[in-house]
Amino acid sequence: MYYLGIDIGTSGTKTVLFDSKGQALAAASAEYPLSQPASSYAEQAPEDWWRAVRETLSEVVAAAAKQGIAASKIGGIGLSGQMHGLVMLDKKGEVIRPAIIWCDQRTAAECGEITEKVGEKRLIEITANPALTGFTASKILWVKNHEPENYQRCRQILLPKDYIRYKLTGAFAAEMSDASGMQLLDVPRRCWSDEVLERLGIDGALLAPVYESTEITGRVSAEAAAATGLSAGTPVVGGAGDNAAAAVGTGVVEDGRAFTTIGTSGVVYAHSSRVAIDPKGRVHTFCCAVPGQWLIMGVTQGAGLSLKWFRDQFCSAEKETAALLGRDPYSLLDQVAASVPLGSRQLLYLPYMMGERTPHLDPAARGVFFGLSALHGKKEMLRAVMEGVAFSLKDCQQIIAGMDIPVTDMMACGGGGTSALWREMLADLYGCPVKTPAAREGPALGAAILAMVGVGEYASVPEACRAIIHVDRVQLPDPDASKAYQPYYKLYTELYPALKASFKVLDEIR
Ligand code: XUL
Repeated sequence: MYYLGIDIGTSGTKTVLFDSKGQALAAASAEYPLSQPASSYAEQAPEDWWRAVRETLSEVVAAAAKQGIAASKIGGIGLSGQMHGLVMLDKKGEVIRPAIIWCDQRTAAECGEITEKVGEKRLIEITANPALTGFTASKILWVKNHEPENYQRCRQILLPKDYIRYKLTGAFAAEMSDASGMQLLDVPRRCWSDEVLERLGIDGALLAPVYESTEITGRVSAEAAAATGLSAGTPVVGGAGDNAAAAVGTGVVEDGRAFTTIGTSGVVYAHSSRVAIDPKGRVHTFCCAVPGQWLIMGVTQGAGLSLKWFRDQFCSAEKETAALLGRDPYSLLDQVAASVPLGSRQLLYLPYMMGERTPHLDPAARGVFFGLSALHGKKEMLRAVMEGVAFSLKDCQQIIAGMDIPVTDMMACGGGGTSALWREMLADLYGCPVKTPAAREGPALGAAILAMVGVGEYASVPEACRAIIHVDRVQLPDPDASKAYQPYYKLYTELYPALKASFKVLDEIR
């Protein structure tokens, strides 16, 4: 049999067909816009996601047919996607307003309301996280407070990938890993929290039943089959939020395993068979895609974003050279940064361009170059940016280590995972080998693996991952470099506390 993974991301949707060994046979992607109707707002049209899913499915199903694979041979579908986004449907199942997505920051007041109504300690005990602007509960309260007419009309609240599930199957269903990011789930007990819902005045009937990631939640309807070329009746499993799906797609599904991903943001993710919650809420604890287990995740807001900013602002010459050589500009930047000695000639960079989640939870924090002198040029600044991002990921790894979550195996993925220099920095800073998976499809592969397990192709998620995920390269730590980084990392950790009050003052200058 064959399996589909559909990843509904922020910039676009990627749909990939795999065989039962995880070999990708056909793939298609389609983009959509992000609208920012006001500063700090971020919205998308759920109809755009559905259009992208229809288009990519039609393309993949047609490509499969050319390879002699009929739609009826597709044994199951797994969904993954951007977390936290609020989709509201009316009694006819129509979208009421654009989805307020994960990076929207309009809900600071509602976060205050949540903390006050539930209590800071109790909120962390139940939802495993402090009230965060990115999470869904504050977005629901924002609509309730600012658009009461829309809230009144709402009959169903869904996350982005769960809206696609509804369009594919007609079923309303939520799934543990993604539901964990709504701040309405009792994360240790894996069910909606009546206590939080009641205190926030949110009717639990608006939420869909919550399934484990491998459970079958519905089957492709005749209508969706006609719109996509799929076979009616194809099972759709719970799936997972993007990071939990990426974990499955990189084999991070057992204790001791972790991954670091550098995309726009950076994530350090560790698997855990027990619930572990940071009482200060500096890392997220969510249910993971392995039924009955959890994940701990630290997030650096401005990871790849910092390097992209530096590339776009200061590296047009390198971009031109890369184009002439037919190379990826980032691989050229890697080479330039590698020519600078460790420590960037005593220059440090704080990557807080978009505020910071882990470990500071401070939207007012900002980027800093520290130690600039006349001897520094573009290449030292470039290396400092990469080291600063690696230091910030080390912060995430340190908090996870401090929670008694042992990590013996670290994978690297995402765009930044392809940088040999970044992998080297991470191995030296973490003091452990950093491995790259052979398959690059991450979340889409993870979602398809969940479908394979859901329909019985494999007995469990770890069993499927052992058969499907292979390591491509291993970067070993260099003990001398690990030692040489120590004074830089120590100084790095001292800079934010020294600047915290100044960031606030800067934020308040109008
Ligand atoms: C996780 C998070 C992002 C989004 C968008 O907490 O905010 O990873 O899921 O990709």
